[in-house]
Amino acid sequence: MEISDRIAKNLGQVFTPPAIVNLMLDSIGYSGPDILCKRVLEPSFGDGAFLEEIVKRYILSAQKEGWNEERTKRGIENCVCGVEIDDRLFQTTIASLDRLAISFGIGGISWKLENKDFLLSERKKEYQIVVGNPPYIRLHHLRKETRDRLRARFKFCKRGTTDIYIAFFELGLSMLSKDGVLAYITPNTFMKNTSNQTFRDYISANNLMSMFIDFGSYRIFENVNTYNCISILQRDRTSNSFSYHRSLSGKPKCTNVLRCQDYIGRKFIFGDKEELRLLSKVQSRKPLGLIANVQYGLCTQRDDVYISHSVEDTDRDYCLFNGQKMERAILRPIVKGSRMKDGKKRRIIFPYRKVGNRWTAIPESKMRRDYPYLYNYLLSHKDSLLKRDADKGVLWYEFGRSQSIQTIHKKKLIIDQIVNGKVNVCQVDSDTMAYSGIILTLKWDKTPLHDIKEMLGTDEFLKYARFLGKDMQNDYKTITTSIIRQYGIRG
Ligand SMILES: C[S@@+](CC[C@H](N)C(=O)[O-])C[C@H]1O[C@@H](n2cnc3c(N)ncnc32)[C@H](O)[C@@H]1O
Repeated sequence: MEISDRIAKNLGQVFTPPAIVNLMLDSIGYSGPDILCKRVLEPSFGDGAFLEEIVKRYILSAQKEGWNEERTKRGIENCVCGVEIDDRLFQTTIASLDRLAISFGIGGISWKLENKDFLLSERKKEYQIVVGNPPYIRLHHLRKETRDRLRARFKFCKRGTTDIYIAFFELGLSMLSKDGVLAYITPNTFMKNTSNQTFRDYISANNLMSMFIDFGSYRIFENVNTYNCISILQRDRTSNSFSYHRSLSGKPKCTNVLRCQDYIGRKFIFGDKEELRLLSKVQSRKPLGLIANVQYGLCTQRDDVYISHSVEDTDRDYCLFNGQKMERAILRPIVKGSRMKDGKKRRIIFPYRKVGNRWTAIPESKMRRDYPYLYNYLLSHKDSLLKRDADKGVLWYEFGRSQSIQTIHKKKLIIDQIVNGKVNVCQVDSDTMAYSGIILTLKWDKTPLHDIKEMLGTDEFLKYARFLGKDMQNDYKTITTSIIRQYGIRG
């Protein structure tokens, strides 16, 4: 990777297309004579996508009001503010803003733009507008000292795996004047992530949300793997509701009007009237999680070592597993949750045995003695197995994660996490295992498994799952175990 590419990636440099800049400035009413006395801040201006449009709109409004060049120049110097951390972008943006102003006959502007880390700025309430597209960088990709500083300084960033754009929200909001407005385009991850509950509660409790534009799976930024939304947050509002717009093509349409207060302590699950009605109907019934264990399938962290697509039986006791002789008794059939229909007879090494009520790893000495081929096979992969980021206390030859090892030995449903036009579910016997998908086993209820399978195949469940699922490319959604657990069953 070239140095300039690395800087761009480390600083989250992805620039906003003009149509989105215009949409955001129009949505906050940035036009007409009023803007001439409004101070606007772009806290990470990059190559100046927002600043160029802001300066253009400012000059055109000033001209309409009959302002001369000197007055317009002073107006811009007072009202148009910005910060950018990257020195190269800082210089080139000033040069292009100079060229833009000169094309309107205004020269020699002393720009109120700073080349610094915005997150070190003081919290002064001096702006009527904060607008932009802050960097998106997950906290665990930042250097430790930056991460620690963000956790210490920003109350919205105290918990979990959050992102630098959340700190930009907190600081930007703290810089707004009494009735100021903030408009950011950001990833939509803050809507549902548990670690962002403090931020969501702050928005709801202070009635800040005035408009929300949801782009769903529509990709605004080419080559960037994020799903975006625009949040318009305003202080001192009289209305207690906000408009929710959905845009699956870049052109947003108002789909519902929602109340901010309804979301305190909850995830931001915004939708149209029909979707929200369906959700409350489903949630008023008994959750499936009361009668079923719903968990992710086995996670070895080295499927290439533990799972084979082609097992050849050599005789009653042995077979060829990934081309190597292996004891058949240690292998179990397994289905891949995302490939249920490919018909491949996969087998997994299951290095556990039942002691009392629990499945525990076969002791190494026993494995060496009773399963010498297995032992030698695993030993040949020992170095790489030790490199896994495994759960605490896991032995080198065990699966990396302990999920489902105890519960998988019942008749079960295997559910594909990826949902498009249909939820893929299959029922398998107690001996068959599953990975890369969700497994559902019954706790004690008498409801037959195939009734639950039918329920998960209904149109209602599909709509529910698609509504709550996470956006993916090509309008696919990913569903989680908790979405399935919280589904209310009839009867
Ligand atoms: C997603 S880009 C958006 C740029 C511009 N706002 C736009 O919409 O086109 C984010 C910008 O934030 C800058 N940046 C990253 N960290 C920053 C920080 N701590 N303070 C100020 N700018 C920062 C990056 O250099 C990059 O130009």
